[in-house]
Amino acid sequence: MKRVFSGVQPTGNIHIGNYLGALKQFVELQEDGDCIYCIVDMHSITLPQDPKELKTSILDVAALYMAIGLDPNKCTIFIQSDVSGHAELAWILMCNSYTGELSRMTQFKQKSKDEASAPAGLFTYPVLMAADILLYDTDIVPVGNDQKQHIELTRDIAQRINNTYGETFVVPDGRFLKEGARIMALDDPTVKMSKSSKNIHSRISLLDSPNKIKKSIMRSTTDSEGSIRFDASEKPGISNLLTIYSAFSGRRIEDLETEYSSAGYGAFKKDLVDVVCEELLPIQERFHEIRPSQELLNALKDGAERAENIAEKTMKRVKMRFGLGL
Ligand code: TYM
Repeated sequence: MKRVFSGVQPTGNIHIGNYLGALKQFVELQEDGDCIYCIVDMHSITLPQDPKELKTSILDVAALYMAIGLDPNKCTIFIQSDVSGHAELAWILMCNSYTGELSRMTQFKQKSKDEASAPAGLFTYPVLMAADILLYDTDIVPVGNDQKQHIELTRDIAQRINNTYGETFVVPDGRFLKEGARIMALDDPTVKMSKSSKNIHSRISLLDSPNKIKKSIMRSTTDSEGSIRFDASEKPGISNLLTIYSAFSGRRIEDLETEYSSAGYGAFKKDLVDVVCEELLPIQERFHEIRPSQELLNALKDGAERAENIAEKTMKRVKMRFGLGL
């Protein structure tokens, strides 16, 4: 059975980019993988967070994991900071990473450009991500395209340590979807949909009301040509909407182009609102049932115990390879 590991940051509301690029894969993979899904709260504090809001967001993400269909009887769900091995391994990996390779990470460049003085954690963030993955002998990491560079770095660090200290880590592979691996912002389809954009209509969050979903889609940026066809460079807005439609409905983009060949953007967008609401509303119903439940807290407690068990074994092996401790 393949070991699968992935994580989501508990900052801001999870949006359909996260859902289509990563979370949908999580659900599919739990059927035949040994899956571990983490709420990566330690990654969130690379930039300042309000402690109360962070606590709430952690439980929101956990409840959303379950609301989209992750079953704690089939997979492990836990909070990163409950297992100390993540930070411990990150230090060891940091000592085997180079400032040059970390400086090349595009996400660091983007996130640090608005900071007067970037925290060191923002710079070493990808190494903590490598630690998350390597701690569990992970084979497969389901993520969106924006994480590709971080997965490459994880592989490089694992191979470097295996070559120097002997077989220590499993070298993981990223798993990216064809449709949904990079959902673009609704107000500017040349940048990815993100939790941090100031414009709430740039994204659809999983807990948005039908009214908000409608507003965001109806006012999304398209073009003046008026024909519904996929052309990512010439028609990025409508291509992004086609991708979203296809990923939600499971229908091929070519079939959607044929169906809507004589329709206007308004009619197409209206149908897209229905497709998105149809999938998100039942998720929201389940979310509101699960969020206040004891079942959620039990799942996180059991998940942390199981994760800790695996992490402890890896840390013993790593320390032995490096000659650390007694
Ligand atoms: P995060 O929290 O930013 O995003 C969670 C997941 O959503 C994907 N994603 C997208 N996919 C498609 N289109 C988009 N617009 C879009 N935006 C985000 C991300 O690729 C990700 O899969 N560093 C990670 C969290 C992390 C992690 C890990 C992931 C920490 N440790 C170990 C995997 C394994 C991040 O910030 O994801």
